[in-house]
Amino acid sequence: MSAHGTPIPMSSERGGPLKGEAHVPGDKSISHRSLILGALSVGETKVTGLLEGQDVLDTGKAMRAFGAEVEKRGETWHVHGVGVGGFSEPDNVIDCGNAGTGVRLIMGAMATSPIAATFTGDASLNKRPMARVTDPLALFGARAYGRSGGRLPMTILGATSPVPVRYATPMPSAQVKSAVLLAGLNAPGETVVIEREATRDHSERMLTGFGAAVTTEDTPEGRVITLVGRPELKPQTIVVPRDPSSAAFPVCAALIVEGSDVLVPNIGLNPTRAGLFFTLQDMGADLTFENMREEGGEPVADLRARFSPNLKGIEVPPERAASMIDEYPVLSVVAACAEGITHMPGVKELRVKESDRIDAMATGLRAAGVAVDEGEDWWTVHGCGQGAVPGGATVKTHLDHRIAMSFLVLGMASKAPMTLDDGGAIATSFPIFEGLMTGLGARITRGATETA
Ligand code: S3P
Repeated sequence: MSAHGTPIPMSSERGGPLKGEAHVPGDKSISHRSLILGALSVGETKVTGLLEGQDVLDTGKAMRAFGAEVEKRGETWHVHGVGVGGFSEPDNVIDCGNAGTGVRLIMGAMATSPIAATFTGDASLNKRPMARVTDPLALFGARAYGRSGGRLPMTILGATSPVPVRYATPMPSAQVKSAVLLAGLNAPGETVVIEREATRDHSERMLTGFGAAVTTEDTPEGRVITLVGRPELKPQTIVVPRDPSSAAFPVCAALIVEGSDVLVPNIGLNPTRAGLFFTLQDMGADLTFENMREEGGEPVADLRARFSPNLKGIEVPPERAASMIDEYPVLSVVAACAEGITHMPGVKELRVKESDRIDAMATGLRAAGVAVDEGEDWWTVHGCGQGAVPGGATVKTHLDHRIAMSFLVLGMASKAPMTLDDGGAIATSFPIFEGLMTGLGARITRGATETA
């Protein structure tokens, strides 16, 4: 959907090899957190490399509504924060667009201040469960009034006398963990989050960088994260690393398009995010990490992906799921182009993303001639082998950027083109996707292509 609400049909088809360098945008998770933590610190945070996708721009608008100054001057974003507990009550409804991360983290950040705020989003976000966040926020003393099933639009009344919380997350979710930690910032004493499976740890790392006391301990109970409340957060200068979840698309496309050789420079390989790349290597991908180094305390490498004609289906370890949760849609495309079966267990969370991603991918892959089996928390793709996916289908993207980009990648390798009903959601996380991929040699067109 475009900003004006008109669907944007898009198609992709087989062309020549993909060649060259793919400079993907900044990390979405770190971009949201840069703006929110900047708004909660005292003074001016400077951010370069911010992802200027719609999701993050909506978070920037929200931070302004809570009283922070957020503006871009030259290539740098400046966030003038109001300090922990300094949010003012917004005059109007906060529209977080398509962004689950945006709305859930912001709800956490305001839930321990004595203000009210009403949140809404697009048709995708307004279907997604919010009780996973409002349940722990209620323990701090906040109240939530939303639609049935804990859906947006929803008003949060922040706690007037917040108390600290000890909370074990019932599902592996960095958004839930982060909402609790951000709420804990304005509660006295220690707030503790326990997660059975480690999820992305950007909040912990960045809170520490902003001067909060955060400790992490691996125990038999799981990972125990403790935050000391009421710190004074100090403004930071942040260089946002490039997003491994966006890198996944040119990398996977290069593996399945004959003759390709693509370099994707400067990709963060934080172990809580890099699961896809190890899975691809397990499948026999010609994928190497070049120029391995550390930047801002995180491992970074240039990824080199070359056409890999002998990809094999594998059993994806369920304990790896959290570190590649956003990458299963494009992994299923690679699996469709591999020999044999790829089984992906332990992925119930995929059903509550921007769309039900198992259903959206399974439906589209089947329409493209690929056999898929599924259960509540697993799915299996029966690979057609290299060059053998029929394609030739029009698929629904359900306002989900990763579904849209995954099927465009499939169309680059399938026998007949793939068409999307609407590729507009791509702009939420990867606004330069089309230009970047066509620059490598991909054939992507706007509008529907006649399919066989
Ligand atoms: C994110 C956490 C994940 C991920 C999302 C970004 C984050 O969601 O899917 O794209 O930045 O914390 P969950 O916490 O729901 O797993």
